[in-house]
Amino acid sequence: MFQLRPFQQSDTESCRKLILSCVRYMSGMEAQAYPQIEEKERQFPLDRELALCYAVVATKDEEIVALGALDKNIVKRLCVSPRHHRVGLGRQVMEDLENHARNEGIKRLRLDSPTNAVRFFLKIGYSEQYPKIWQLGGAKIHNMVMGKDLL
Ligand SMILES: CC(C)(COP(=O)(O)OP(=O)(O)OC[C@H]1O[C@@H](n2cnc3c(N)ncnc32)[C@H](O)[C@@H]1OP(=O)(O)O)[C@@H](O)C(=O)NCCC(=O)NCCS
Repeated sequence: MFQLRPFQQSDTESCRKLILSCVRYMSGMEAQAYPQIEEKERQFPLDRELALCYAVVATKDEEIVALGALDKNIVKRLCVSPRHHRVGLGRQVMEDLENHARNEGIKRLRLDSPTNAVRFFLKIGYSEQYPKIWQLGGAKIHNMVMGKDLL
């Protein structure tokens, strides 16, 4: 039903739409951070960022419904279309990124998780390292740095 394939430059605007659809599902940030993140994402050179990563998309009937990327040992941009949460897509994308990392000889992955996603990452074998607070404009954003040893 879902197909995983490498990200292509022509996927950029669909991926941007997907990321924007996920922003309001991320928690741990002050309310005024949301419009700032959305504005930043609208203008962000996403194609250039993803071209420097190993990036995959999941599609359903040719629509992009999930995205994930690996920048060396850092997981970035994991998002699943809210219409398809909790059907195993996040896990599937993460397994693909982890397999790629193993093939590259990477021993440990790291990521910054918004608070809504911590339990998801715990479920797939990540552990909490330390909380991290960063600022966007005047707004505070609370993340949890998490990691997993690849066996
Ligand atoms: C976090 C996110 C990627 C999870 O993706 P998903 O496809 O819904 O997760 P899956 O269906 O693969 O879930 C895998 C396991 O984690 C569990 N899980 C998923 N989300 C969870 C949550 N919010 N709380 C508790 N458990 C959760 C599932 O129940 C499942 O457990 P099971 O195997 O025992 O059934 C998705 O909710 C999302 O895109 N959120 C918005 C963007 C975001 O927060 N990205 C995080 C990284 S920046």
